[in-house]
Amino acid sequence: MSDLVTIILAAGKGTRMKSKLPKVLHKAAGKAMLQHVIDAAKEAGAVRNVVVTGFGGDVVRETMGEQQGVEYVTQAEQLGTGHAVLQTRELLSGTQGTVMVLCGDTPLLTGDLLKKLYESHQEAGAKATVLTAIMPDATGYGRIIRSEDGSVLKIVEHKDATEEERQVKEVNSGIYCFDIQAMFEALGKVTNDNAQGEYYLPDVLEILRSQGDKIWAVAADDYESTLGINSRQQLAGAEKILRRRKNEQLMAEGVTLMDPDTTYVDFDVQVGRDTIIYPMTWLEAGTVIGEECEIGPSVRFQNVKCGNNVVGQFCYAHDCQIDDGVALGQFNHIRPASHLAEGVKMGNFVEVKNSTVGKGSKLPHLSYIGDCDMGSGVNMGCGTITVNYDGKKKFRTVIGNDAFVGCNSNLVAPVTVEDGAYIGAGSTITKTVPQGTLAIARARQKNIEGWLDKRNQ
Ligand code: UD1
Ligand code: MG
Repeated sequence: MSDLVTIILAAGKGTRMKSKLPKVLHKAAGKAMLQHVIDAAKEAGAVRNVVVTGFGGDVVRETMGEQQGVEYVTQAEQLGTGHAVLQTRELLSGTQGTVMVLCGDTPLLTGDLLKKLYESHQEAGAKATVLTAIMPDATGYGRIIRSEDGSVLKIVEHKDATEEERQVKEVNSGIYCFDIQAMFEALGKVTNDNAQGEYYLPDVLEILRSQGDKIWAVAADDYESTLGINSRQQLAGAEKILRRRKNEQLMAEGVTLMDPDTTYVDFDVQVGRDTIIYPMTWLEAGTVIGEECEIGPSVRFQNVKCGNNVVGQFCYAHDCQIDDGVALGQFNHIRPASHLAEGVKMGNFVEVKNSTVGKGSKLPHLSYIGDCDMGSGVNMGCGTITVNYDGKKKFRTVIGNDAFVGCNSNLVAPVTVEDGAYIGAGSTITKTVPQGTLAIARARQKNIEGWLDKRNQ
């Protein structure tokens, strides 16, 4: 399939989405619909993918970014699917062989299904092959009209169909393989003499047939994979199907999902064997979880790289690294550019930002650790805070190995606490605490004898 080229139609506005964002950029399971289609095409072996953009074309290109094997052409006016394909004619003029036409709003397509379509097209030696599906509700779709011998005669759009034709449950998925030059030639003959006044791509089939060319149809095993998304309701339906597929894949690979219905895992997330995911957990794009972890209930990880044997519940982490054996506590917030090294123990209500926490260090309760380089074996007492911000700039705090910071201390950055240093509870530290010393920076306690008696007199 090294010669396979695709044309992906994505110029429509998607009026029914009622959105400022072009339809194909809406995400399903953490990935733009158009990206789902491109990835399925590449999986099927496509080396060149030409995306036709129109409404919001600049936003589409910018959001998708430069991608290998993806090119764009513009359809300035949306005059129909046939007209959209014609916009690629110049770009593809030197191309021979098979072109696959896809729509940018079908995020449930799989590489396997497209491969099957491509192979059937080759085997049949057809000039055009359409992927069809049996839809429980065919409303809105083009219907596949077959002759007595079962061969495809034509495709009739819902709006142009007779009552009898509307009874047909087999529909056009909007996905086809064509001999590219035969397709462009036939497209030149398509007119817009129909209910919508549009140039219909499916009309190419009837034109080819009338010329004596072979046209062919392949039915998808399940209609789900071909569903086109036109509304937010349908988007939510696609999201559910994609998440179900992902959850099934994870379970097949040896991950326990206590409640798949409330486990939301994005398409690219990896989870190791014997990890248990508890309910109400979100594992979002870029996240990798190791083996034998216990994640959830109520965890949200976004782009978190997490080692083995990590436990965490009721917490939120994003763009950070959590090494083997870390225990997260309730209501932790682990913010970007943070690294919790092996065996770190976190307790309740702790926030870490842009900091490293060394091996086996403990942050058991109520701390804010921001812009801090913390060594290993450190004990941060309850309520300790790195004071990293003077209202204008952020400064770093350095804490050496095996330091012990007493409860309710402020470390006013920039400041260093050297290896093995101790800090008395309630201290506000503004100067270096040298190795092996005890720093106490709080007012001395004064007891006033007989004070109560005096007051009562
Ligand atoms: C189309 C098919 C219909 C099929 C259905 C499957 C036609 C005429 N009809 O209908 O047989 O059952 O898909 O979902 O092709 N687009 C452009 N430029 C245009 C018009 C459309 O790029 O001028 C793009 C849209 O962005 C969309 C795709 O083509 O991605 C399909 O267009 P849409 O208007 O949704 O066609 P349907 O009416 O769904
Ligand atoms: Mg459509």
